[in-house]
Amino acid sequence: MSDLLLTPVPAARFGLSADTFSACLGYTTDSLPVFSKTRIPVINPRHFFTPGHCRTMSLWWRLSKGEPLYISGPSGSGKTSTALQFCARLGMPVVSVTARARMDRRELIGHWSVRGGETVWVDGPALLAWKHGWVLLINEFSAAPADMWVSCNDILEGLPIDNEATGLLVERHPMTRVIVTDNTRGHSAEIDDGFFGRQIQDRSVIDRFWHLRMEGLAEADEAGLLEAETPESLRSHFRPDTLSRLCRARAKAGADSRSAANAQAIGFESHAVPISFRTLTRLRDMILATAAEGGETGREGLLGLIRTAFTEALDCTARETAETLLVTAIGRIPGDLRRSVRAASDETEAV
Ligand SMILES: Nc1ncnc2c1ncn2[C@@H]1O[C@H](COP(=O)(O)OP(=O)(O)OP(=O)(O)O)[C@@H](O)[C@H]1O
Ligand SMILES: [Mg+2]
Repeated sequence: MSDLLLTPVPAARFGLSADTFSACLGYTTDSLPVFSKTRIPVINPRHFFTPGHCRTMSLWWRLSKGEPLYISGPSGSGKTSTALQFCARLGMPVVSVTARARMDRRELIGHWSVRGGETVWVDGPALLAWKHGWVLLINEFSAAPADMWVSCNDILEGLPIDNEATGLLVERHPMTRVIVTDNTRGHSAEIDDGFFGRQIQDRSVIDRFWHLRMEGLAEADEAGLLEAETPESLRSHFRPDTLSRLCRARAKAGADSRSAANAQAIGFESHAVPISFRTLTRLRDMILATAAEGGETGREGLLGLIRTAFTEALDCTARETAETLLVTAIGRIPGDLRRSVRAASDETEAV
């Protein structure tokens, strides 16, 4: 297991300054077998690492001795992508699994299968991670019931896994880590936030984790990312200043919705639903495509796009709150974008 070579990965690899954190050990990817290499997530060079989050992940990576990391936060706040991009930078292969209500410990361990007339053992995600030194990423942790995770205490403590089906005890590779992501933190109070499929977790299970809370990006970072990630096919139609204004306006609506939702969580009745980066990205592309195609960019047109991107899924009060927030923030920008298409094409013609 130990002919795999390790290499220190500095903060610069995450786009951060050297004083953010000390280098973490990752794989020298050339030393990995092909079946491991193909599991290293593809680097998204534009993924934005918040220094505080990265510092926590680095400490955990270096000091946790097999204890898992619990990343919690609202939908679309970047939990899964940050976990994957962290691993991508470290050259770590990842095996992912999504928890569900009827999950059973055996799904993580593996199963017997008939292949070519023979019964063979097939390793599940936990055994693959334990044997080959991969990261086991468990998404939507609290979708599975508390007793399922209680039965997985060996996995959550980084202990050798006792495979009862084969009678083998599998030691954890020293590079193996477990990361879970979840919208809730396993509390009953969070059912009120709309995560109905979630199950209250056993305190003793939650106690085994390091914890990282993600609430979404800061407004300016989100605006920058929305702009940087605009597909070239849409960007090319518009003047850069108008595009920037649209990105800043959407980031503001996103930040306002999150702070209103947080205020609600501590007792104010505001009916605010946080608007995720995922939703803002979708809305960006819809607005840009509509403006580029000369579609309806007035208030009614904008409302139609907001509904398709997000608010059709909400109940009446939450819907009105979100629509007012987005329409107020974005206002006339779609119309300006449409005019900017004309101005940009006039400039091209003049050249
Ligand atoms: N920091 C970031 N830098 C770049 N892109 C980001 C960042 N955070 C989120 N995104 C993008 O936002 C989208 C949603 O992120 P992600 O899937 O990580 O959210 P999540 O918190 O896991 O959501 P869910 O709870 O719904 O699973 C992805 O397309 C991701 O690439
Ligand atoms: Mg996720």
